[in-house]
Amino acid sequence: MEDNILEVKKLKISFRTNNGTVKAVRDISFDLHRGETLAIVGESGSGKSVTSRAVLGISAGNSIMDGGEILFDGKDLLKVGEEDMCKIRGDKISMIFQDPLSSLDPIVKIGQQIIEALVLKNRESRKNSRKEFNNMLAILKRNMIESSDVSKKAQINKIIKTFNDFNIEAIKLEESYNFSHARCEEIIASINDFLFKASKKQRLDIPAFIKIYLSKLEDIKDPYFTYGYKEELNKHKRILNEIKIKNRHKFSIKTGFKKVFKDVDLATRVPKEVNEELKEFNSVLEKMLTEAKPNFFRIGYYVYKNPNSKIVDKPIEEINDYCYSYLNEHFLNVFLDFEHNAIKNSYNKALEGKKKVVDNLETLRAFFQKGNLKKRSAGNEIKGVSSLVYESIDHLAIIKDSVAYTFATALKSNIKKYFYNESHNAKEEVRFARQTKKRDALIAKGKKIDWKVEPKKTVSLDDQIENIVSSIDRLEGKYKEDIAGKDNIDFAKMSISLIDYFKEKASGAVYKVTNVIARERAIKLMEEVGIPEPRIRYNQYPFEFSGGMRQRIVIAIALAANPDILICDEPTTALDVTIQSQILELIKKIKEERNLSVIFITHDLGVVANMADRIAVMYAGKIVEYGTSEEIFYSPAHPYTWALLSSMPDLDTKEKLEAIPGTPPNMIYPPVGDAFASRNKYALKIDFEKQPPLFKISETHYAATWLLHPNAPKIEMPKVILERINRMKERAGEDNGL
Ligand SMILES: Nc1ncnc2c1ncn2[C@@H]1O[C@H](COP(=O)(O)OP(=O)(O)O)[C@@H](O)[C@H]1O
Ligand SMILES: [Mg+2]
Repeated sequence: MEDNILEVKKLKISFRTNNGTVKAVRDISFDLHRGETLAIVGESGSGKSVTSRAVLGISAGNSIMDGGEILFDGKDLLKVGEEDMCKIRGDKISMIFQDPLSSLDPIVKIGQQIIEALVLKNRESRKNSRKEFNNMLAILKRNMIESSDVSKKAQINKIIKTFNDFNIEAIKLEESYNFSHARCEEIIASINDFLFKASKKQRLDIPAFIKIYLSKLEDIKDPYFTYGYKEELNKHKRILNEIKIKNRHKFSIKTGFKKVFKDVDLATRVPKEVNEELKEFNSVLEKMLTEAKPNFFRIGYYVYKNPNSKIVDKPIEEINDYCYSYLNEHFLNVFLDFEHNAIKNSYNKALEGKKKVVDNLETLRAFFQKGNLKKRSAGNEIKGVSSLVYESIDHLAIIKDSVAYTFATALKSNIKKYFYNESHNAKEEVRFARQTKKRDALIAKGKKIDWKVEPKKTVSLDDQIENIVSSIDRLEGKYKEDIAGKDNIDFAKMSISLIDYFKEKASGAVYKVTNVIARERAIKLMEEVGIPEPRIRYNQYPFEFSGGMRQRIVIAIALAANPDILICDEPTTALDVTIQSQILELIKKIKEERNLSVIFITHDLGVVANMADRIAVMYAGKIVEYGTSEEIFYSPAHPYTWALLSSMPDLDTKEKLEAIPGTPPNMIYPPVGDAFASRNKYALKIDFEKQPPLFKISETHYAATWLLHPNAPKIEMPKVILERINRMKERAGEDNGL
């Protein structure tokens, strides 16, 4: 099974407007696999941006979420509150828009905008880490107790307490280490600035700078951080002090800073030896940052047990190894035993729960299918199954099971909609009947009527029931799969990932980004996205940048949150061609380096040829075809995809074959059949009458066109496109050196 980071299910979105309801997204489903680039391609107005905004929880005020789910990390993003959504936006999912100016504040300097993103994200994740650590530990404890003999309860309590306490010790140690680490980063940042200004021949108050360095240096005293560097640090302290004294005569409070500098030769404003020393000092500090980080999880335990012992003055590897044996022998072997049983217990309990749920879903489904919904009985029915589903969740599992976690809320909201529509439908019927009666009566009296009765706005209750039943089906499918795969579970692996989870959360809780560090990080990010001279650019305003550079800044801001998913909505459409390809290259590069999952939205199929793993083609609010990049480019099946392919500029002839004739439909009145039918010269009669389902072409390739129906006439794709595809294939062959 694919590892999906995001799942969109049956998403339907419309907009209220003065002219009627625009049905912008009409029942689309897609998955984003972890680490892939998924392209969503379609003409302007097909619903691409509306979809991506919904994922980010920033839909317009007049939008109506008609149905569906967006599943991410055990949550349905359509149902989480704004506070949770803020966390996700700050931390997990970032977005880049077509117009970079719209994402930048015009009156705030670029650097500051990146810093804000960095600091905000850090604050959030620190808070969450602590909470999640405590939460998971409580669940672990419960399962340890459940899976052991009653006589072991006291021992387990002690083990969990020890685990918690030594992790707190570890956190303290790490905090001290981080503090020194941060000071070190700060000095480096400041020296880099100094050296940069010196290289621009600026006047600098050398003693003042050195004073700052020396005072920060005082803070770099964590024994683990400074191990092996004490002498070198002392040496530099001495030299810096000498430099401070030597340069002091050039400054006097009376004459003032500026006056003194008038006498200094421009070229030697910062003497060469000062430059040299600072460079050397900096390289020492840089080297300290690259040293292996102590394993505080292990050391924490040792220090917790031996508060007064001296373990610090040894190479980090040695300490790590020693503490590992110590931790293992005195704690971990027993802990892991209990943990292993706890994980098994949690898993098996969940499995039993799943079986029970599967047994009960049949009844639940029948209940709804029969349509015997009464508010109270439906409520009870759901409550019963919801609590079963909650029990069937493996709460010790680190990756959240989205379908199960969101089942109850999805069901509840669908039921709520059902009852809302039930009561409102009746009112609508009454209004409609009353007004029609009045009108008919007036006409019967021979009056001339120049008004119409507004049509009934009733919603199909059957549709709501269908939504409810489909939630049930999906959970059942998922659980049956889980039950079938129960023998392939690797408990040892789960056991290790749980320990890793605790370590990560403990570290996360103490990882502080100060403003000075954030500034240096921001400059690094600017470098990463290819902004030349970031130290100068840092202090400039958005208007001082070209379009391409602005888009790079927006990418840097998106990366500041260190997201898992990056959504790019036409990021290159506003740029000219050469800049376009640079930005595409950049997105490709950061995707690889940071192992991101990317949704890339564009109206131009040509843009994604070298970039997408899979492509979904959208038309009039629906996905009409999806498949791997190869399948879409080399064996497209939907006439709309053919049209998109032929409207791409040819790499050889540099000509567009043909623009797509006609215009997309009015989405207030979407066509009943295939929405592309009226522009499609291969359209069959049925295309105008009935929506085609998605036909399966391969495990990964689907298209919604009646041409794929077994009874459809055999229609080949146009010859020009076939030729073009063959040329593309040849070209790809050449590129691969074939
Ligand atoms: N806030 C809104 N109010 C009314 N209609 C909207 C709104 N936002 C988008 N639409 C309509 O929804 C459809 C899809 O828009 P969009 O997703 O922006 O298209 P694109 O695929 O070009 O990104 C279009 O018909 C558009 O006019
Ligand atoms: Mg758009």
